[in-house]
Amino acid sequence: FNYPMPANEPVLGYAPGSAERAALKKAIADAKKKQMEIPMYIGGRAVKTGKKVEIRPPHELSHTLGFFHRGEDKHINQAIDAALKAKSGWEAMPWEDRAAIFLKAADLIAQKYRAELNAATMLCQSKNPYQAEIDSACELIDFLRFNVHFLSEIYRQQPNDAPGVKNRTEWRPLEGFVLALTPFNFTAIAGNLPTSAALCGNVVVWKPADSQVYSAQVVMKILKEAGLPDGVINLIYVSGQKLGKIVFAHPDFAGIHFTGSSAVFNTIWKTIGENISRYKSYPRIVGETGGKDFVMIHKSANVDEAVTALARGAFEYQGQKCSAASRAYIPSNLAEKIKAKLVATVKTFKMGPVDDFSNFVNAVIDEKSFDKISTYLKNAAKDRKASILVGGNCDKSAGYFVEPTVIEAKDPKYVTMCEEIFGPVLTIYVYDADKFEQTLDLVNATSPYALTGSILGQDRAAIALATEKLRFAAGNFYINDKPTGAVVGQQPFGGARASGTNDKAGSALNLYRWLSARSIKETL
Ligand code: NAD
Ligand code: ALA
Repeated sequence: FNYPMPANEPVLGYAPGSAERAALKKAIADAKKKQMEIPMYIGGRAVKTGKKVEIRPPHELSHTLGFFHRGEDKHINQAIDAALKAKSGWEAMPWEDRAAIFLKAADLIAQKYRAELNAATMLCQSKNPYQAEIDSACELIDFLRFNVHFLSEIYRQQPNDAPGVKNRTEWRPLEGFVLALTPFNFTAIAGNLPTSAALCGNVVVWKPADSQVYSAQVVMKILKEAGLPDGVINLIYVSGQKLGKIVFAHPDFAGIHFTGSSAVFNTIWKTIGENISRYKSYPRIVGETGGKDFVMIHKSANVDEAVTALARGAFEYQGQKCSAASRAYIPSNLAEKIKAKLVATVKTFKMGPVDDFSNFVNAVIDEKSFDKISTYLKNAAKDRKASILVGGNCDKSAGYFVEPTVIEAKDPKYVTMCEEIFGPVLTIYVYDADKFEQTLDLVNATSPYALTGSILGQDRAAIALATEKLRFAAGNFYINDKPTGAVVGQQPFGGARASGTNDKAGSALNLYRWLSARSIKETL
């Protein structure tokens, strides 16, 4: 079964008067009327615990969308048991049939559930229609289709034979179950983690972030409709710590596909290390973690292009992309022009709830995040090492709204140049335009992360120098573009250093981690 490289799913525009806009508006209105009750899914069964957790849109705290059922220790054990019970049947299924389920799920999103899934992502994760469309529609569809292509390429790889010897590689799944632990900020990532491992023949326990439960449940509903057998993916809403205690002590724990903060990943890695003698196999540990992503501007850059890269890179989805531009280095010769234009651009951004499609900026995800971001802003407002050029205000009376903010740091190691804030905050530092090479060293040494970064300029020699000197500073490096918006099948995504294990989501490299090869030699 050969599945050629698919085309990327086209991004719909949601222009006023368009059919997709009308469908999305209706899906939002329907979801807001419904008062949903969201169960967990264990062994294919909807599980209601009665322990209800309310779901409120981050941008409209007065509204309750409904609630989800919180699970306890026994549900974690049940999810593991259900996964292990489903394992032999799933492994025995011809891979073409497994692939057909995920391809069907992609088609269902594209043709039937696009509006519902985008509405869920908008309402629970506070994304505007465009940000929801590129995430929960296009990127998730792409992951589902491209992974089938990459796996078909892997399965075709076979060793040489020799005279009198027949050799073969068997691409087995891992022995045990895989844990998918997913973040709030991308429905596509949350959907990709369990499905990529399952496509390779693994069985999965999936725990999404609490603030993403609603869209995760829609994804699960689609997978079930596409024909996913019971127990292959088990979706549970439990505390991360409780989950860790049970899963990481289980002898059949075979691997974790994690996306989230570096701090949580460090804790997980340590816990796995402490339990290492319990496992039947060394577990696979895949982590896509934090970022402090840079934009480096050369003195030859085009000002308009630089401002667009900064404004879109930093403020789309309120800066809550792991790839978001959060520190920028501006050459002294262009500084006044870039600052003036950037401030003017940011002032045009409308902020508010997702229901009004003209709002570019919506709310940040929750109160913890709001409080963390506002503390950085309050400190910057009174620190002589920084000045706020635009924004800086926060208001949580109706929703968790943080104004898009540009801070100018006088010190290139100022705290907001170094730490991941995960909000709509861009810090810029003006460097001596004649000290480009030294500033590249600074960019490389300022942060422990290495996820994404950009270089902007017209001078090819400067671009070549930056590409070489920043070789290990980013896993995804952009020339004359913003550092966000990697497309599946075009820019495999992931970073190293404190940004993760760099197993590139949406690529064959990632799928290899969910396979355990067996070499079989037959002497003829
Ligand atoms: P998070 O680390 O708070 O949570 C991630 C997941 O881990 C959630 O499901 C959460 O409930 C769970 N969790 C939290 N504490 C746990 C514990 N002690 N044990 C087990 N599980 C635990 O991350 P988040 O706030 O949901 O997402 C934002 C972070 O994710 C940012 O740091 C961002 O940079 C990162 N991220 C990285 C990528 C990437 O590709 N590198 C992509 C998206 C997000
Ligand atoms: N894949 C997402 C981006 O590149 C995180 O912005």
